[in-house]
Amino acid sequence: MPEAERKKIDMGYLYQMKARGEKVSWLTAYDYPMALFEDKAGIEMIMPGDSGMMALLGHRNTLSATMEQMLWMTQAVARAVKYAFLIGDMPYMSYQTSKEEAIRNAGRFMAEGGVDCVKMEGGVDVADTLAAVVKAGVPVMGHIGMTPQSAAVIGGYRSQGRTESVARKIIEDARRLQDAGAWSIVVEAVPAKVAGLIVEAVDIPIYGIGAGPMVDGQVLIVHDMLGLFELFKPKFVRRYAQLGQAMMEAFQHYKDDVKANTFPGPDECYNMPEDEYQKLVAGLKSRPLSR
Ligand code: KIV
Repeated sequence: MPEAERKKIDMGYLYQMKARGEKVSWLTAYDYPMALFEDKAGIEMIMPGDSGMMALLGHRNTLSATMEQMLWMTQAVARAVKYAFLIGDMPYMSYQTSKEEAIRNAGRFMAEGGVDCVKMEGGVDVADTLAAVVKAGVPVMGHIGMTPQSAAVIGGYRSQGRTESVARKIIEDARRLQDAGAWSIVVEAVPAKVAGLIVEAVDIPIYGIGAGPMVDGQVLIVHDMLGLFELFKPKFVRRYAQLGQAMMEAFQHYKDDVKANTFPGPDECYNMPEDEYQKLVAGLKSRPLSR
């Protein structure tokens, strides 16, 4: 779509997309340039997720994320995003301890981070907190299925809902979050058929990461899809580029050029007028620099 015709994406537009069956593309971004190019490419939703702790900062999990770190990333991304719907990702222990804390921190994402909504992980257990945050005026997206912030309780980073009882619980979570006022939910790492049942069980948009094609849109972690994260590759990731490899080749090429003294070349050097240079050389000879 030509730039002049593009409009900022809001929740109403995302509901319309669901109504007409148009899938939403969503990516994470943790810094200004990544968000800029995603927004230019027309990605409809962008989120500086707490996955940035792993993908960007090299931590082994997402638990170390603080409000200050999340706001710092979110503000950088917000400076780049003109059109996409921007999601603030509430970090571990920023909403679990009390409703008051949850409202305060969700409000900071809105007021200081410039986001369009916040996301919080958990189902039935967080429904009351989610309702309180919505009541305070902050739109909230739920996050169910594999919830990385509670990996220690759910048995690690593994797909969820592969048995009847767990799948049923996840569908119930979706219902409860809708009733609590969530405007949408992201479902992570559940069988595609279970995600399909969740879409049938609620009216709000259901987005998926590792949840198959029946949901209303897809999200991927940008470092996974660009080939910039090498520690592990979840089953659901499709690599759209090998930027890690491309970066390494560029770095090696640069190193070779420096060693061979072919960088910088004449076009990469500043020039000075020849007469100024000759004056400088003559002056250095006639009036040597004082020691
Ligand atoms: O932190 C994150 O990137 C997320 C996505 C997986 C949805 O929560």
